[in-house]
Amino acid sequence: MTIPSGVSVAWEASADLVVVGGGVAGLSAAAAARRGGLRVLTVSKGGPLDTATQYAQGGIAVPGTRDGDSVDAHVFDTCEAGGGLCVPSAVRSIVSGGLGTAATLQSLGASFDRDRGGDLARTREGGHSVRRIIHAGGDATGAEVQRALNISVGAVSVGAEAGHSVLFGSAAARVLVHRGEVVGLLVSSDQGFGVVHSPVVLLATGGLGQLYSCSTNPPGATADGIALGLDAGAEIADLEFVQFHPTVLFAAGSSGRRPLVSEAVRGEGAHLVDQDGLRIMTGVHPLGDLAPRDVVSRAIAERLHITGTDHVLLDARSIDKFHSRFPTVTAACLAAGIDPREHLIPVAPAAHYSCGGIVTDVWGRTGVPGLLAAGEVARTGLHGANRLASNSLLEGLVVGERAGAVAAERLGVRNRTGDVQLPAGTSVPRERLQQLMTEHAGVVRDGYGLDRVASAIRDEASVSGREVRALEDSALTITASALVRAAMQRRESRGCHTRRDFPSGDEDMRRSIRTRKNPDGDLESRFESASQTDAGSTQTMAGVNG
Ligand code: SIN
Repeated sequence: MTIPSGVSVAWEASADLVVVGGGVAGLSAAAAARRGGLRVLTVSKGGPLDTATQYAQGGIAVPGTRDGDSVDAHVFDTCEAGGGLCVPSAVRSIVSGGLGTAATLQSLGASFDRDRGGDLARTREGGHSVRRIIHAGGDATGAEVQRALNISVGAVSVGAEAGHSVLFGSAAARVLVHRGEVVGLLVSSDQGFGVVHSPVVLLATGGLGQLYSCSTNPPGATADGIALGLDAGAEIADLEFVQFHPTVLFAAGSSGRRPLVSEAVRGEGAHLVDQDGLRIMTGVHPLGDLAPRDVVSRAIAERLHITGTDHVLLDARSIDKFHSRFPTVTAACLAAGIDPREHLIPVAPAAHYSCGGIVTDVWGRTGVPGLLAAGEVARTGLHGANRLASNSLLEGLVVGERAGAVAAERLGVRNRTGDVQLPAGTSVPRERLQQLMTEHAGVVRDGYGLDRVASAIRDEASVSGREVRALEDSALTITASALVRAAMQRRESRGCHTRRDFPSGDEDMRRSIRTRKNPDGDLESRFESASQTDAGSTQTMAGVNG
């Protein structure tokens, strides 16, 4: 099916780099490119605070150099959590790149919590063998990172910094590709459709949480980058690995973005119990309540299934000074009438993070010349089948900054855009899609349920319109197709993909599934070949943390 695709272009602009998305990866790239003298235009659907980064609580996983921590230990924990699908060279490169992260952010004005001795305070989260997570404002790390980056690139007001402009309230409609190379971006804005001529486009659009009825993600997390990347010819991988955060504040009948109860709350001593007061994680994993996230979410989902209930409880009453250590969690709980010092907190798993995405190297390069991706939308190989807690801000900072630097490689490349057309798109109504995905593609899946989602998409999708909401619905629908397709092909349980009908791992499937659009516009997927399993090692730029 196609839609009338020609668009009339109301305005034109040019840049050396167009960044799509105003969160940690996008702004780190914008700042780095600007330092390199590039003219950068950032396009963001919302305002300066409408990003997933803004809501990140726990912190940034940064390898320490004492108390049992090291780059090796951080790499080990990341690969353990990743269920055999991490790309080891990418993990080492990105974790090593994190060593200077705190200093870089502090030089931009970010302020991190300190311990009594004046050193950076470090907490622990699921899957980490030591306390290595740095944080700000107790549990407001993302807000502090966003604040510092917004100011550093002038993203608090349009065009405030020389060399960098920001178009808020504008959506990327299509990456323009001519003769296989990126030549610009089609943008939907208040002034109508516009074309930004640019040899490099960086997709830093965040995640896909809006595929599900409840998510920790903001409303803008509609998988736009996955759809834009597929349309431009890029490959995606590991999309079946959707991470469900185990402890999201529960309220009966609620939907949309739900407040997180940071894993750091368990890191400081809280534990999970069911509604009869029985410990949930006892005997499940050696790390108990601090087991990796997939293990905890699955244990909760199983307990809910057995007990026929819809939430479990987090007992954080033993934590000293809870209100000042976790002000964001406290505010959300108090708003719901719960004081964590006295009451157990009702929690349930909800969609939190996409471990897969557009295949890139550790510099954000995709297989399409001029197309970069960084942050949650990208799949560098850091997360494998399950992301280790607080590795996402780390990845956004490290790979974002590198992507901003490599954008200079195409400085001066000037190609004309051909005919400007909107991509053909179809969509299933959003609430229907969310209901299908929540019911059949959640923490635990099976072939029958996944097939029901695939059939519903096939039977119920209709031609999308051209407004921003319609572009989002179309992105959600194609992403759901790709995700469900990979989840059906992965006839095993691994990381955060659990199949009730294939409960064990299968060594033959310890490979990523790669998906792309064929020339007819249909999705094609395949298990990657052995030569691709450590692609990051061949793609890294010589000399820098490769
Ligand atoms: C949390 O604070 O539990 C979330 C951190 C993360 O998702 O990495």
